[in-house]
Formats: sequence, structure tokens, C-alpha cells
Amino acid sequence: MVVGKVANEKSFAKLFKQNSIKFLMPKKDLEFVKKVQKEITLLSNASALLGWDQQVYMPKKASQDRAEQATILDGILHKKITDDKFYKAVLSLSKSKLPNDDARTIEILKRDLGKARKLPNEFIEELSKTTSQAFDAWQEARERKDFKIFLPHLKKIVELKKKQAKYIGLAGHTYNSLLDSFEEGMTVEELKPKFEKLKIELIELIKKIENSEKYKTQKNIFENYTFSNDKQIIMSKEIAEKIGLKKDISRVDISTHPFTIRLGTKDVRITTNVRTDPLFSLLSTMHEAGHALYEIQMPEKFKYTALMDTPSLGIHESQSRFWENMVGRNKPFWKYYSKQFKSEFGLKEKEEEIFSSVNHIFPGKIRIESDEVHYCLHVILRFEIEIDLIAGKISVEELPKIWNNKMKELFGVTPKNDAEGVLQDVHWSGGSFGYFPTYALGTIYASQIYEQMKKEIPKIEEEIEKGNFEKMQKWLGEKIHSQGRKYLAEDLIKKVCGEGLNPEVYIKYLTKKFSEIYGF
Ligand code: CO
Repeated sequence: MVVGKVANEKSFAKLFKQNSIKFLMPKKDLEFVKKVQKEITLLSNASALLGWDQQVYMPKKASQDRAEQATILDGILHKKITDDKFYKAVLSLSKSKLPNDDARTIEILKRDLGKARKLPNEFIEELSKTTSQAFDAWQEARERKDFKIFLPHLKKIVELKKKQAKYIGLAGHTYNSLLDSFEEGMTVEELKPKFEKLKIELIELIKKIENSEKYKTQKNIFENYTFSNDKQIIMSKEIAEKIGLKKDISRVDISTHPFTIRLGTKDVRITTNVRTDPLFSLLSTMHEAGHALYEIQMPEKFKYTALMDTPSLGIHESQSRFWENMVGRNKPFWKYYSKQFKSEFGLKEKEEEIFSSVNHIFPGKIRIESDEVHYCLHVILRFEIEIDLIAGKISVEELPKIWNNKMKELFGVTPKNDAEGVLQDVHWSGGSFGYFPTYALGTIYASQIYEQMKKEIPKIEEEIEKGNFEKMQKWLGEKIHSQGRKYLAEDLIKKVCGEGLNPEVYIKYLTKKFSEIYGF
């Protein structure tokens, strides 16, 4: 028998003290838990591969087959995760004295499994099937710019999510139970006031920018040129490699919505795409490469354990936003990159003008095409809508109208159609409610991390100017990536930066940068 070996804690403690074979009793449980974790990881990788293929290469008519494949695989995975023997072994180990990393693994598993076991198998299967079909409906709805095609699917998903929140049943706001899956420990109660304050400060900053002389006469020089799509993709792939994403452990493909996915410890893939804005491909590739680098730099010793993970998606996003914003939108980077960019695309303007155009501020309607200043407002809009949907304060039918009203209120613009409004993001079709806030958290964390990095490596901007990214990559690896999921997000940020989540650091960073660019 593998489980329940440490039935008598007192006798085990005695044995532990007296005996040199101190880990004998929980050893079998530990081996069993490690074996199951490995199986879960491998099944998850296979499931992820199906998802990657669906978004990258799968022929359109394969969607029915794929939905069934995904459903059965997710069912097997869920059974494995919720297996009684596995849980009992974890519970038993949680009462044992274990070496640090094992103890933390067991602590994580106890929490994660406890949550997962609250969801019945039928519920998981229903959710998986619903979301798989909803993804296709969302794609069609977006193509035809018609929310009604997606409406019945989204209604089903919202109901399932409310049900899920009830099953999980964390304290406070119903939404906490969903948010926690992406940002462990974070709550509406903590986040809402911080976002509320950030919203006001961002709107104030945007007003200052819009009132500046420079804003009134600003020109986006990129509009005067054509940028070959193929060249953009090639240059994006080059920059991904430069950041540290080597070809023998990764791929860069094309999908509607860029993403990163880990299919194994030495197989992390990213996708990119091209938009009218020539920076989209470059910056979104740097973004995804930042995610991928995090995955790749997690230590080998954590392989197949719960530690081979991030504390939260906010921390994960801090790594992508770091490369996108702190590097890709920063002056030192354009000192390095302008020359190549100019020669590849035949630009005549000076480096300074290119840098200004990179940081051209305008109230756009699409989140993933957003400038740095408007970005968090896009997130806060979604956060407010999600909270109200889950609380039952608003209905799915009203969404396009509510979305457009909020856009008007925060950005002063109204989407022309649902495709550039409520239908723009893939998340809701996948049932990912509680995911959006992590984008803003990551953006804020990234600025805090950069401030700290500058203190510890004073000449880091000179390194960027030379196109040397190794020191940053190593520093991030040591401080963040190598920690895996040993700490909660708040604790990790405290450990690295000396304080927890602080939107003020982000506002200060934005104000300094954009007051210099716009001269106010
Ligand atoms: Co991201």
C-alpha cells in the first residue's frame, strides 16, 4: 500500500528523531506523488499540444474531432488530478517533516488539489466541451463582427463560471474564486481600490499628454512607409533569439492572437502576427519571448513537480511586459535597434523621431495594440465587467452596449463594431474569467522589477544600448525564474524589490517617461 503510511504522527516523529533512515516512512508516498505529478505534467503537455495545434495549424473542419479529443484527454487528466489515492498521499505527506522543496511542493498540491476536487467530473467535461465549441463561435462572430453568434455560448460559459465559483467557495466576493486560479491570494477587496486609484491617475496623465503642444502636432512617421510582412516576421524571430530564445528549444509560429505555450521542459513555443502597426509584431514577439524565457529558465530540479510553475500569471506577465516595455519601448533599445530598423524598412527619420513614434499615444480600441499609458485602462474595463457579470449585476445580452459605454467613458472613443469591441479577446470563449487583471498586475510588477534592476546593475541601460541582453536575462533568471513557485506573488516581489504590489511605482515611471517625450 502506498498511502496512509504515516497514520501515527507521534510514532513517526520518534522514528524520525532516532533513526538515520529519517525519510523512510513518507518516502513511498513521496515517490508515488512524484510519479503522479509526472503523469499529470505529461498529459497536460499533450493537451497543450492539441490546443497549440488548434490555434496554429488545424484545418477548420477538424474542430468537432478536436473538441472530442480535448474533452476525453481533459477528462483523464481531471480524474488523475482528483484521484483519491493521490490526494490521500499528499495529505499524509503534509503532516510529515520533509526537505524544503518537497514540503513546498506538498503544500502547493494540497491547496491546488483541494480546489480541483471541489469540481465534479461532469462539470469539467461540460466546461471543456462548451469552451471548445465557443472558441469556434467566437472566431466566426469576430470575423462577421456579430456578437449574436457568440452570445448563446458566452451565456452558457458565464453560468458555468458562476457555478464554478460556488463550488470553489473562497471567502469574500464570488469573483475571488475565479481570480485565485490565475493570481493566487489576490482578491477583489484588495485589487478594486488599487485599480480605482490607478484608473484616476492614468486618466489624469493622459489628459496632461493630450494637452501638451507635442501631442497636438504629433505625427506617426510609420504611416508614411510600407512594412513588408515577411520582413517583420523575420526580424521578430531574430529578436526572440537575441533575447535568449534558442531555436533548438522553441518555435515561433503565426496565430490570430499571439501566445506562449510550454509543451515540455525543452519545448516552449510562441506565436506572433502582423498588424497595420509595424511595431506590433516586434513588440508582441518580445512580449511572448519574455514569457518563454521564464519557462525555459526554470530550474531542472523542479521538473515534473508543482514548483516548475509561476506563483501567478501576474508574475508571468511581469516577465513579458518587462521585455516589451522596459526594453522594447525604452530609449536605450532604440539607440541600439534604430539603425537596423531604418535600413531594413528604408526609414529616413532620426532615431529620436522613431523613438517618439514608438511611444505615440492615442486612445486605441484594441487592448493588444495599446500604448503603455492606455494599456491598464483596457484591463480595468474588463475587470469591472467581469465582476458585474459574475455578481449577476449585468447580463450577457447587455455586454456590447456596456462595453461601448465604458470605452466612451475611459477612452473617449466608441468601437465601430463588436470585433473591435467586446469580441476582440479570446479569453471569455475559453472560460478564462479572472485572467485579465493579471495583465495589469504584470505591467505594474515589471516597472517595479526594472527599478530594482537599475539599482543592482547601474549600467544596465548601457548594456541595452549595445544590444547586450545577457546580464538582464541572467538577473531575471536568478531573481525570478529560478524561484519557480516557491513563493506567492506578493512575497516574491517583496523578496526581489523590497515591497509588494505598488501601482505608484508604475505611475511614477510613466509620468517621468512621457513628460520627457511630450514635454510637460
Ligand atoms: Co502575456
